[in-house]
Amino acid sequence: MNMKRDIISVLDMKDDLEDLIDLSIRLKKQRYQDFPSAKNRILGMIFEKPSTRTRVSLETAMVQLGGHAIYLNPNDMQVGRGETVADTGRVLSGFVDVISYRAFKHENVVELAKNSTVPVINALDDLEHPVQIVADFMTVKEKKTRVNGLKVSYVGDGNNVANSLLLGSALLGSDISIGCPKGFEPNKEILETARNIAKQNSCKVEVTDDPVKAVESADIIYTDVWVSMGEEKQREQKEKIFGKYQVNSDLVQHANRDFIFLHCLPAHRGLEVSDEVIGGVHSVVFDEAENRLHTAKGIILTLIS
Ligand code: CP
Ligand code: NVA
Repeated sequence: MNMKRDIISVLDMKDDLEDLIDLSIRLKKQRYQDFPSAKNRILGMIFEKPSTRTRVSLETAMVQLGGHAIYLNPNDMQVGRGETVADTGRVLSGFVDVISYRAFKHENVVELAKNSTVPVINALDDLEHPVQIVADFMTVKEKKTRVNGLKVSYVGDGNNVANSLLLGSALLGSDISIGCPKGFEPNKEILETARNIAKQNSCKVEVTDDPVKAVESADIIYTDVWVSMGEEKQREQKEKIFGKYQVNSDLVQHANRDFIFLHCLPAHRGLEVSDEVIGGVHSVVFDEAENRLHTAKGIILTLIS
């Protein structure tokens, strides 16, 4: 029987999310150490959308561990000329040991995983960004020494990052409050799943259209772009609606005094976050970005070992 494991959703880490974080913290101290299990192993990385952090962290991680990575642009592959995602998965499985896939459609990531015999990592799609969340909570653990019993506040668009953050907070036992305009709430099913998990873990999930309420007594304030990749046509409309959801000095006054500011990046200063906040003393966004490397290693080693 094929025992391969995929990471398509944060839910695929429901039993070991904190273990992955702890492993990544240990790997951060062993930056240039080869791992026998990664030697000669190949990561195939399919990117339908642009990327800085995800691409460079995955590739660097694989090479530093002792393996190799191949960047695959669908425009240069037969999948760009009509070969199916399923056949692409079947073929790549004969060459590489793990596949990462950044896709426009969540269904395509699921389809690739279903038809691959090697582990598939979701490197962001329209529904979730699971690997980002491991780095986010690794940063929280480094800065706050724990990942449970905190209040996470997410202000902005109820997008892929918000969906994954919801699941991560509930699984780890921290309250989460999402402040977003009506009509831009996180995915309904994910919200319901997060509420059920939160109940079991004695923490809370709240969604409000009041950004002040969302950040009240927050330990962590998180935001992301208002216009995600693939939504460019909605830019004008969204920028008008989201104005009062900017994370700025006025808004963060309602958080705990020692709050930290997270952003998955790339950031648009002056839109979802002010220069003052992202450049201020509470901001840990570049530690968070670096932790994408260490968590990429933790995830790859766990999947290929
Ligand atoms: N945060 C993140 O995934 O960044 P990239 O789009 O640069 O990979
Ligand atoms: N929500 C953003 C995240 C980028 C890392 C997007 O999908 O474009």
